[in-house]
This record gives sequence, structure tokens and C-alpha cells, in this order.
Amino acid sequence: MIDPLLVLNAMVVALAVGSHLYATRGNHISWGPCDSSITNDTSLACGFFDVPLDYHDVSAGTARLAVIKASGTGHRRGSLFFNPGGPGISGVQRLAQNKDTLLAIGGGVYDVVSWDLRGVGDLTIPGEVRCFNSLEDYNTLFNGTIEINGIDELDNFANPVDVQHLLDQATDMEKKYNETIQKCLSSPSGRFLKYIGAAAAVRDVVSLADALDGPGAPVNYVGVSYGTLMGTWLVNMFPERVGRVILDSILDPIFFATQEPSTRWVLHQFVVSDTVYRGLITGCALAGPDGCAAASEGDSPSDIDTKIQRLLKALYDASKGDGSPPMTSGQLRNSLFALMNTPGQWSTFMNDVYPQLAASVGTGPAQKTTISHPLLKRAAAQAPSYASTGILCGDSTDEHGTTMTDVFNSIIAASRNVSHVFAATWPFVPHQCLHWPVRAVERYQGPFNKTPANPLLISANTYDPITPLTGAELLASLLGQDGVLVHKNGFGHTMFVEPSSCINSIYAAYVVNGTLPANNTVCDIDDDFEVFKGVTTSNIVANLQVTD
Ligand SMILES: *[C@@H]1O[C@H](CO)[C@@H](O)[C@H](O)[C@H]1NC(C)=O
Ligand SMILES: *[C@@H]1O[C@H](CO)[C@@H](O)[C@H](O)[C@H]1NC(C)=O
Ligand SMILES: *[C@@H]1O[C@H](CO)[C@@H](O)[C@H](O)[C@H]1NC(C)=O
Ligand SMILES: *[C@@H]1O[C@H](CO)[C@@H](O)[C@H](O)[C@H]1NC(C)=O
Ligand SMILES: *[C@@H]1O[C@H](CO)[C@@H](O)[C@H](O)[C@H]1NC(C)=O
Ligand SMILES: *[C@@H]1O[C@H](CO)[C@@H](O)[C@H](O)[C@H]1NC(C)=O
Repeated sequence: MIDPLLVLNAMVVALAVGSHLYATRGNHISWGPCDSSITNDTSLACGFFDVPLDYHDVSAGTARLAVIKASGTGHRRGSLFFNPGGPGISGVQRLAQNKDTLLAIGGGVYDVVSWDLRGVGDLTIPGEVRCFNSLEDYNTLFNGTIEINGIDELDNFANPVDVQHLLDQATDMEKKYNETIQKCLSSPSGRFLKYIGAAAAVRDVVSLADALDGPGAPVNYVGVSYGTLMGTWLVNMFPERVGRVILDSILDPIFFATQEPSTRWVLHQFVVSDTVYRGLITGCALAGPDGCAAASEGDSPSDIDTKIQRLLKALYDASKGDGSPPMTSGQLRNSLFALMNTPGQWSTFMNDVYPQLAASVGTGPAQKTTISHPLLKRAAAQAPSYASTGILCGDSTDEHGTTMTDVFNSIIAASRNVSHVFAATWPFVPHQCLHWPVRAVERYQGPFNKTPANPLLISANTYDPITPLTGAELLASLLGQDGVLVHKNGFGHTMFVEPSSCINSIYAAYVVNGTLPANNTVCDIDDDFEVFKGVTTSNIVANLQVTD
């Protein structure tokens, strides 16, 4: 029986020895074909890059980053580094999936380079943070709890019974999450947890730029979502190294540096989530029965909302009674929240998934109790990764005596006051920071108003369920003359979910020529992108009634 911890240690030791050699002749990457588990695209190259586990303590040993490169075709100007956020998303995989979009942003004259952050994937060391040995271990610990079933509540916890039912689970859930944390600490990843996170990632990308573009070269960087937090840390840790930097879908760095995620995240970040939902029901109503199966002739957006609320209630009632519903209302809420990020899936959900769910809890003969669809978030197929948790919580501010009861009370308050539809989404990574015992050896907590060597291009979707526009506005104001903000007038999370040739050409003009558009330029979504049959994003935006 091989102890994975020993194998990992042996690899780290071997690399540490290698890095002494690198240190004297300069670190470099030997590019070769990518592993076929990543991509079979032979135009992409992959390699490894060694960095210190702790930049302030070389005796800690060496980390190994899995790196991928899409080569530009024109006269090479340097590298454009890409971070997909998550924070646990694999940069190597995302670059492989979005190669054309990213190469276009680089105008052909930059190589686009990404990597798996420490704690992400099985190629980088330290690798993917996993806390459970098996799905069975995970299911055994959490069977029947909100971790698996989500939170069942109706109408913003209107019923005091729902409030009490949630609060009654606080101690038990806190115990189970504490137990999970102990498993994380004793897993192979455990002793590396303090070496993962955004500050190390910033130093890693600066080292990569030194190696690929020459010592002291400008760092060109595209970061989305959590990648924007790393971007703002880069700008303030290394202002003199800032090259062409695009940050899209901004996580407010001051909020992150000062407020604990477990109780504050939903209250602060979900302010636009219900408006995105309004976009979904408005689009469905505009499409009518022809383009959206949930709509009947003449339905208004609030009629569609009523149907979705009715479905949530039926699932809620069924799980309280003796029915065997295909999923809980909490699981449906989780699925809907995930859907808010990706308008390209709205039509599939409303046309394929909604009718099946409605039939399964309806009174008709077509009762069907197992519904399986990739857009439905239910039982996990494998034990979850804790990569995002490890990075986000390790980067976050310290907490002071917070309890699970506080977390639950913040959810109840946010359901009533901030996001009626989504505040009770559970599980959710920021909540897992409750009692997370590790902080990264380095965190950047300010100041955030350093002057970068080059101005930044910031972009944000007008209706983003998870990183609201307010984060981008805050960053623009911190940067003053050194940052221009572009609004993408659509729905969802990140630049990848709705196409806009307007913003694509702004990105390329900035990256290639350094040209910045007028501040607060508004870009529309391309009209050939239909959210529902015959319904564009512009149609939805024009009909969106933001009532609250
Ligand atoms: C690459 O090709 C192999 C063999 O056909 C296949 O098993 C693998 O899934 C492919 N990889 C990807 C990322 O598609
Ligand atoms: C969860 O508990 C129920 C009984 O409460 C049991 O029937 C089921 O097998 C358990 N599932 C798992 C995965 O442990
Ligand atoms: C969970 O762990 C924290 C930190 O160690 C501790 O303060 C708290 O009492 C624990 N909670 C429970 C319910 O055991
Ligand atoms: C509700 O939100 C408003 C505006 O964000 C805030 O001023 C108020 O204190 C909140 N109320 C509660 C009960 O959280
Ligand atoms: C762009 O506008 C924002 C307000 O939306 C402002 O905070 C920022 O300083 C402006 N940037 C420039 C370069 O004028
Ligand atoms: C960069 O500027 C040149 C010269 O004005 C222009 O021809 C080219 O289209 C610009 N590139 C981009 C990507 O905007």
C-alpha cells in the first residue's frame, strides 16, 4: 500500500534538488505535447515550471506548475498570461477550451499562457486539494443534511418553522464541517495548504514572465472572476511590472481584504442575482411557447416566475410529505443559481429540464421520479474538490468567533433583503471558510491604490449574479486615471458566456496597440446570439423591469 503523502513528498524533494540547478542557470520550461487528458490539440504546448513553495523561505522546498501555451502566429511580442478564476478552475484546461478567443485577444502577436495554480489539478504540485478519500466517506458524513439536499425554505423564510429548522442544524453542521477540515489537514494536501493562494500565484506569474519574456519584462495578464483578485494583488504588489492587464468580472478587493466570506459574501455579492433571474423569466416570456416551453401564450415575466415558484413549492411540499420528488427545492435553487452564470443554457433549461420537473410533481399521469440532466445539481458523482475552498479561504481575512448560527442568520437576512431567489444557495464555497484553520503564508490586504506602470482595462457584465458591477466600479475608482471600465450589457458571469464582437475588438486593440476606449463605454451582446429562439440579450435588457 503506497502512502500518497510519501510519494508526493518524494517528488517535492526531487524537484527541490533540481531547482538548485535551475537557480544557477535560470529556470526555463521544456515545452512538449500536452497530456492527452488535457487536450489532443497539437498546436498547444505544455511543460512544467519550478518555483519556491514559499518565496520568503526557500528551505520550504519547491512547487511545480503545469503550464500550457497557445502560440501566437505573428511577430511575437511576449506572453499574455490567463487566469480563469474559480479559484479552483484549471487554467490548463480552460486555455485549451478557449484557445481561439484568447489568441484573438492577443491579436496573434502574443503567446497565451496559462497554468494550474497551486492546489489545482493533478499535474501541478502541490496538487488538487481533496479532503475525502471517497465519495462514500463524503456521503456518509453528509447524508440527509443540507450539504447534500440544499436548504429547503419558501418565500424568504416566511415560515418561522423553516427558520427554526435551519438554526436547529447549526451545531451538527458545524461539527461535520469541522470534521471535514480535519480531513483536509490530514490529507496529502494538508501540509501544503499554506503555500497555495493568490499572493503565491502573483509571484509565480511574475517568475513566469521573467523566464519566458526576460527578467523584469512587463507582465501581460487576463484574469477573470477570482483571477481579478489575483490581478489587483499583482497591480499593487508589483506596480512596476504591470504590462497590458485586462480584468473581467471584478471581485471587490477591499471587501475581500476586510470582510469574512462565511457571513458577508452573500450579503455583499448577491445584490444583482435576482435581476439576472428577472432576465431569465423576461426572456422566456418574450419567447412565448414557441421558444420557451415554460411559457403559455400571453404569459408575462411574473407568470413565469409564478410557475418556477410553484415548482419550488411542490418540491418543498413533496420532501416534507411522503412523496419521492426527483430533487429537493434546495437542489433546484442551487441549479438555478448555477444557471444564472450562463445565459447560453437558459433555453435548454426552460425547454428540456423545466417541463420534466413540472410533470414529475404535477398531477398528470406522466410522473417520472428520476430526472437526470447536466444542468441539475444533485448528488455528486465524486467527492468534491476543496481547491476553491483552500485558495479562497486561505486568502481571506481572519474571522473572529463566528459560528454556524451566524452564517445561517446571514443567509436568512440576505434572503429577505438582498437576493430572494438565491441567498439560500447551499453548499457554497465562501461559507466553508467558517473555521478554515489555514491562511496563506502571504496575503495582500492593501493598499489598493498603487499606480501601475500601464493603465488597465476593466470589464464587467451589467447583470452578473456573483461579481456585481459595483466591484468593477470600485476598482475603476481606485485606479483613477489608470483604469478604464467597459460595460458589457448582458447577463451572466465572465466574458466567455455571451459573445460581443464590440468588447472583443476593444480587448485586442488594448492588448496589441495599448489603445483604450472611452471610460464607461457600453458594449452590446452580438445579435446573432439568441438566449431563447428569436430573443436576443438586447431584447431582454430592453424589457427588463427592475422593480426592487
Ligand atoms: C485525446 O484522444 C484520446 C484518444 O482518442 C482520448 O481518449 C482523449 O479523451 C482525448 N483527450 C481529450 C482532452 O479530448
Ligand atoms: C442515507 O440514509 C438513508 C436513511 O436515512 C439510507 O437509506 C441511505 O442508504 C443513506 N445513503 C448513504 C449514501 O449513505
Ligand atoms: C469547530 O471548530 C472551531 C475551531 O476549532 C471551534 O471553535 C468550534 O467550537 C467547533 N464547533 C463545534 C460545533 O464543534
Ligand atoms: C437591508 O439592506 C439595506 C440596503 O443594503 C440595509 O441598509 C439594511 O440594513 C438591510 N437590512 C437588514 C435587516 O439586513
Ligand atoms: C472611469 O469611470 C469611473 C466611474 O465609473 C471612475 O471611477 C474612473 O476614475 C474613471 N476612469 C478614468 C480613466 O477616467
Ligand atoms: C493596431 O493599430 C494598427 C494601426 O493603427 C491597426 O491597423 C490595427 O488594426 C490595430 N490592431 C488592433 C487589434 O486593433
